Amino acid sequence: MMLQTLKKQNYNLIFLLVAIFATSEIMAQNKKLSDEEYDKYILGRSFFAIPWVEAPSATTARDGLGPLFNANTCNSCHPKNTRGILFNENGDLSRAIIAKLSIPSNNSKEHKELIYKNGLVPEPVYGGQIAINAIHGVKFEATPKVTYEEKVIKFPDGKIQKLLKPTYQIDNLQYGQLHKDTILTFRLAPSLYGVGFLDDIKDEDILANEDEFDKDNDGISGRANIVYSNITNKYELGKFSWKANLTTLKHQIANAAINDMGLTTSIYPKDTCTKKQTACLNAPKARDAIDLPDHRLEAVEFFVSNQKLHKINETKEFKKGYELFKQIGCIKCHVDSFVTKAGTKIAPFTDMLLHDMGEDLADGRSEFKATGSEWRTPALWGLSLNEKITGKKPRLLHDGRARDVQEAILWHGGEAKTIKENYMKLDKKDREFILKFLSEV
Ligand code: HEC
Ligand code: HEC
Repeated sequence: MMLQTLKKQNYNLIFLLVAIFATSEIMAQNKKLSDEEYDKYILGRSFFAIPWVEAPSATTARDGLGPLFNANTCNSCHPKNTRGILFNENGDLSRAIIAKLSIPSNNSKEHKELIYKNGLVPEPVYGGQIAINAIHGVKFEATPKVTYEEKVIKFPDGKIQKLLKPTYQIDNLQYGQLHKDTILTFRLAPSLYGVGFLDDIKDEDILANEDEFDKDNDGISGRANIVYSNITNKYELGKFSWKANLTTLKHQIANAAINDMGLTTSIYPKDTCTKKQTACLNAPKARDAIDLPDHRLEAVEFFVSNQKLHKINETKEFKKGYELFKQIGCIKCHVDSFVTKAGTKIAPFTDMLLHDMGEDLADGRSEFKATGSEWRTPALWGLSLNEKITGKKPRLLHDGRARDVQEAILWHGGEAKTIKENYMKLDKKDREFILKFLSEV
């Protein structure tokens, strides 16, 4: 009892200390949870972090994992809500990077229906993504592999930086060959920092930054992804995932639950087995029809969206770096000012829009309106927390190819090419100010 109250007080204290970094001013947010909200948070946290098990099991609240799955907790891919780790201790790709699959449409009625709801046509035998795990009696699907080739970049001042260009392959295919035209993309689990605030930005405020036909002629033409919502059964603004193909945090979490863990929800009530995967189709079912019922799904959402934001020590170098970040135009996509529906001023450093990032980052996979070379600007806030929380240097960009912030910048192309060049032309000291700013943000 004593321990319980103590823990609770600590927790409230954390919320009292919450501060938000907003356009160069620190704002304190005193958010205190009611008893009911606190219970919801704890419930959500347990479903986020405690491993799910396969059915049938004595622990019905947590059975229903699979039949096919990638990991058994959200936490295995988003450790303590941070970005996923790219490699395991043994040097293999970790489960936090997911290989996703699609094939080109043949314009048949079947393909058109698939595109209407999924924004793409999944691979016919393996489905939309490779499951590296399965429950007993069902074969896992395959093992994704990566190799890197060095690519040398030279700065105008003569400095050399090596980048790693990835080549991907899928080994140990358990259900036969992939479709010959399979489009493969690799996605590393992003940080969940501040996603509750991103969810709470008004659509119109995001759409206000769209400039699809580049009317202001600055080379940057952000546009929104408009996607099918499995919640409302309508087309809506896409906000979440690397190509913004999911509408709300709830939609994103339900999608993660079914695809990454094999957990059904009222939003995605069917497991992911394809017609050819008979053992998967015939696998034992959990006692409850829905693995993650609405109130639990909402608790996970509540937990994820009520993480505290950290306080930034705005040193002189930080401020100088921030100024340069604005001056050279990074801010055009990594936008630093929104006001949420709740009235909170935030500086997430994203416009939540899609940008063509050029050939080198392209994966050739379209998702609804997003083309094969478009990506949603990722939020940069909380970047400094990954290493502090996991003890590991985070790998950046959609597939984790960048070993640090400078490498991530140098991969920028397409609409961001000129601004990347602005960065490269800065003298070393100014580049370091920008890197310093990003190491604190
Ligand atoms: C096997 C690894 C894995 C598991 C398990 C997993 N995720 Fe993710 N998560 C990812 C990847 C990869 C993406 C990016 C997907 C994409 O871009 O297509 C992602 C994206 C997200 C995003 C979007 C963030 C953003 O800024 O757009 C949220 C939110 C999220 N996951 C929450 C969860 C929750 C909650 C769970 C547990 C129910 C979970 N995830 C389970 C790998 C995982
Ligand atoms: C045209 C829009 C645009 C501009 C301008 C731009 N970025 Fe980006 N940035 C993106 C997109 C989109 C990505 C994700 C690309 C990917 O993952 O393939 C990204 C990724 C990043 C990342 C990695 C984030 C992560 O979570 O992995 C960093 C760091 C970054 N940008 C910093 C900068 C800096 C610094 C500048 C200015 C020199 C800049 N960006 C200019 C759109 C832009």
